[in-house]
Amino acid sequence: MSAATALAYTDEIARSTAPLYERVRNVIPAIEWPHHAPYVAAINRLKRERNAVILAHNYMTPEIYHCVSDFVGDSLALAQQAAKTKADVIVMAGVHFMAETAKLLSPEKTVVIPDLDAGCSLAASVTGADVRLLRQKYPGVPVVSYVNTSADVKAETDVCCTSGNAVKVVESLKVPRVIFLPDEYLGRWVARQTKVDVILWKGHCEVHERFSAAEIAAYRRDHEGLVVIAHPECPPEVLDAVDYVGSTANMIDFVRQRRPARVLMVTECSMSDNVAAELPSVEFIRPCNLCPHMKRITLDKIHHALETLEPRVEIPADIAERARRSVERMVAIGR
Ligand code: 13P
Ligand code: SF4
Repeated sequence: MSAATALAYTDEIARSTAPLYERVRNVIPAIEWPHHAPYVAAINRLKRERNAVILAHNYMTPEIYHCVSDFVGDSLALAQQAAKTKADVIVMAGVHFMAETAKLLSPEKTVVIPDLDAGCSLAASVTGADVRLLRQKYPGVPVVSYVNTSADVKAETDVCCTSGNAVKVVESLKVPRVIFLPDEYLGRWVARQTKVDVILWKGHCEVHERFSAAEIAAYRRDHEGLVVIAHPECPPEVLDAVDYVGSTANMIDFVRQRRPARVLMVTECSMSDNVAAELPSVEFIRPCNLCPHMKRITLDKIHHALETLEPRVEIPADIAERARRSVERMVAIGR
């Protein structure tokens, strides 16, 4: 069956998926459920047959995040989970660098990504050759790479980090200076919180760089008592204008624990939908921006990937061996 073939919505599927619909009824209109439900049922059956797990990033749409995933989280949590799962197959409902990270940490497993073109503007902003040039320019200075990079870049890296542990990773090296790439804004955010001198690269996230401080000020004017939280990939002027900065998982924990009456999550749109499904008492104010790469991952493509166990993520052995070390060092440091 091709990824484009629609599955039928039967009475049996309506009955068996009804408890799953309860999880998302605040954010998915009832009229849309017959479109999702046949895929939800088929995916959950295929996962058992294949001994597969679906690791889903916090930016997945609610029908993926709440109805078919086995584990959800930020990049660091997905990497930690990939390292310890007992499944034979990992389906990465996220972008390509996340699937590569899973393959590095579980080389013996089959790792599939539902759409190979699910990239990332940060990962595309730097190559392994760029890192070799930086090392020539700054001899002896260690390289810390955000996980939003290709395996090729990770292979040239001393240690990886995510937005959830970047400061801890930089400080773990106990050096006066590091090269930090590719996210300039995350690097600046890290530099503010440590005495370590941070040499920056000019990569940006195409989703988070579009937010502005003026936009946030306007939302605060229009919504009294608004709590604003942001991802550290946003520009510095935005981070200065918000009440809390954290990784996607930290932002979700913040809302779960504080339960603000009104919150604006300055990040990718699906995050607010996923938390709104769980916390109907919190009012989520937009703006949000869509990540076109994350949105390539859909239920029908996940279904197709589970049926065919394609497209697989493979990494050439010489690159994988060196890239794995930098990811394993990060996982050992933890959050
Ligand atoms: P997190 O590691 O915070 O989930 O961020 C990943 C990402 O791609 C954000 O744009
Ligand atoms: Fe990359 Fe930005 Fe999309 Fe995250 S949101 S995957 S950093 S382009």
